[in-house]
Amino acid sequence: MNLNKEQQDMLDGRMGPGVQLAMKVQVAIGESFNAERLVPITRAHVALSNQDADQWLAKKMVSMGAKCKVPPTVNPGFSLCWFKDRALVDDEDYAFMKATHDAYRALGAKLTYNCTPYIDTNVPNYGEVIAFSESSATPYANAVWGARTNREGANSALFASITGYVPEYGLLLDENRKGTILVEVQAHMDNDYKYHMLGMCGKKIGHGIPVFVGLPKHISKEALRNLGAELNTSGAYDMYHIVGVTPEAPTIEVAFGGKEPERKVIITDDDLLTARDEISIVGNRSIDFVMFGCPHFTLDECLHIREQIGKRRLKVPMYILTSEHTKTTAKLMGLDEALEDKGAHIVPATCPDQPSWKFLKNKVGLTESPKCAYYPKRRGIDFVIRDLDTCIEGAITGEVQ
Ligand code: F3S
Repeated sequence: MNLNKEQQDMLDGRMGPGVQLAMKVQVAIGESFNAERLVPITRAHVALSNQDADQWLAKKMVSMGAKCKVPPTVNPGFSLCWFKDRALVDDEDYAFMKATHDAYRALGAKLTYNCTPYIDTNVPNYGEVIAFSESSATPYANAVWGARTNREGANSALFASITGYVPEYGLLLDENRKGTILVEVQAHMDNDYKYHMLGMCGKKIGHGIPVFVGLPKHISKEALRNLGAELNTSGAYDMYHIVGVTPEAPTIEVAFGGKEPERKVIITDDDLLTARDEISIVGNRSIDFVMFGCPHFTLDECLHIREQIGKRRLKVPMYILTSEHTKTTAKLMGLDEALEDKGAHIVPATCPDQPSWKFLKNKVGLTESPKCAYYPKRRGIDFVIRDLDTCIEGAITGEVQ
């Protein structure tokens, strides 16, 4: 690879051992993809997970004196305050999350603890070169904003934050951003939940860059968030196009770069139902709790839940996972208190895939998100999956049909 003087100085260790290690990895990634050079990034997002390897690497970089040159936003772990105040987390799990927090703080990361940075805290412009990890973030940044990022891992995004560069390959180059699979959606896409299910059709869509046709002209940010999150739950997608909606697909010809699609796939209502039933446990039963916010819910979704509950009260607890800033705004508006009165808790800075939810072990939840159902399975927590409004009704009755 051709390195400029600054990059060579980093690689030679003139900017410290932490920067040197980060640059070594960046160069190795670049060489494995035949990249010719490194290009600067303007923003980054690290999919902090608060798991062993994540914390080990963050601490190692701190011990080697690294600092983030381009401070990244970070994914949620769990909220130390929220779980501690309610005595829901044990000392060991608390100390572990605190150590993760301290390591990222020492690196100079922006401690947003939010997995939807592309909606409000870290929004790229069209054409911006960035380093985003997190399953829903990469496709949203590429497809919806027209920014350019490869599907970084938490580690490579952290290294990019430290050096300020990424190797130029893959989706950073025009020729690799074109669609390869035509996906005709015949299913009725009449709510945001259906986009979760469309994303779960990755097995049928197959490997490549999907170009969706047949979707409505106006698609909410929440629906696009759901689509990207589930495309990377059922498969591995860093880019897609929606003809007439996303910026690099004004027409079907432009989306495919003038080429023919490699294959065509049709998605029907039956496909969406099959995708749901592969991960949902069987309905017609009582449930113990309801969880939303994987990926994190927006303020608009919190407002919708409040409106749907109306004058009623919840029979089982509802956990709505959001960012700290959504929680703060909800508090300012009196929305947080109003939802608490009903039995719904806005939980900030938290992911369902965290040890802080141990207290829900062997319980059955209800959610609108397959991704929410997927990760907690390994902690002994099962979910029924239904659309958002059915889940809200389920929280009121304690049952789901
Ligand atoms: Fe976000 Fe965690 Fe779900 S990072 S998308 S809440 S698995």
